[in-house]
Amino acid sequence: MIDRLPTALLVTDRHGQIRLANARASELLGEPVDHLMGAALERVLAPLDELRRQRRSGEKRHELSIDLDGRALIVGYALSEVNGLCWDDRDEQYAITFQDITRVAELREERDRLLSISAISEAIPTLLHELKNPFAAVMSAMEVLRRDAPDEATRESVDAILAQLDRMRLVLDGFSLGHRSLRSARRARVDRELRQTFELLRNHARSSSVFTSAAIAEMPPLPLDTTVVRAIAFNLFLNSLDACGEGGAVKLSARLLQAEQGSAKRVFEMEVADTGAGMTPEVLARCREVFYTTKSKGSGIGLALCQRAVDAANGVMMIDSSPDAGTTIAIRVHC
Ligand SMILES: Nc1ncnc2c1ncn2[C@@H]1O[C@H](COP(=O)(O)OP(=O)(O)O)[C@@H](O)[C@H]1O
Ligand SMILES: [Mg+2]
Repeated sequence: MIDRLPTALLVTDRHGQIRLANARASELLGEPVDHLMGAALERVLAPLDELRRQRRSGEKRHELSIDLDGRALIVGYALSEVNGLCWDDRDEQYAITFQDITRVAELREERDRLLSISAISEAIPTLLHELKNPFAAVMSAMEVLRRDAPDEATRESVDAILAQLDRMRLVLDGFSLGHRSLRSARRARVDRELRQTFELLRNHARSSSVFTSAAIAEMPPLPLDTTVVRAIAFNLFLNSLDACGEGGAVKLSARLLQAEQGSAKRVFEMEVADTGAGMTPEVLARCREVFYTTKSKGSGIGLALCQRAVDAANGVMMIDSSPDAGTTIAIRVHC
């Protein structure tokens, strides 16, 4: 009968020596029943005393992580005293029922992560809005200071501060992609903006010994939102830097293409290509999902926001990636 139980069951004496094990326990622990008989509970699960202590302390979750030949398993268990169940001994006996809940634990962790991210992302728009005005005020005060600088040394210091402020603006913009479209009613010099962005990114990449280059063609003013173009470039470029080890390369290109041969319609194309780690088919299939990330400190919102901004402009984002060839991400939008 106990072999038909869907949960794993072990019964031990008061010293934690296993006196009974069912088929499910043997399957879960990867050991034949006769190996388990007589073994110490401590060897296969945890010391009996620890399980008793957890029960007494009233901890809500009765869980253990165990190591099965290098595979980490999380098991949920219940411990009860079952005197006289297995043998005629009057001594205390303990029944431990347990289940593999590794997947449940993973899902719980994922749920908690998503909840905390969603709390943060709700606060972000307000935070960015609050930062905007003081940021602009500091920026213009610094510009004035630069103009009125009494000497070259002061001007250089102010320039250094301005460069850092510019970098901060870029980070803020990367996040403020929010619900914006890539398209704008106003025309702007996207190429100039991208060259400036590249300068900032290149400085940023210096510390990571990644080789960076850019090929940004001269373009007439385009009906695109430069803040969004910059934010997309920023997100793609930073992902590429993350994917590249020392000695890798990242290239940012942008140009205007003819929509079709002989047509006057034009397409703006921006591309970030790297020689980094690339994506497996599974990652490639999911990388545009909101909150999907393979990084321990990732947010998983970069590509999702880029995709949204491109979609809103009826554009496309194409991702070409494989573990041995690196990654190329291109966005295209009619202009
Ligand atoms: N250039 C790239 N090379 C390899 N993997 C990438 C690249 N860009 C994105 N990815 C994969 O897509 C995932 C999602 O990217 P993203 O949305 O920017 O979130 P995050 O950077 O916070 O992880 C990354 O965690 C990574 O696995
Ligand atoms: Mg990213």
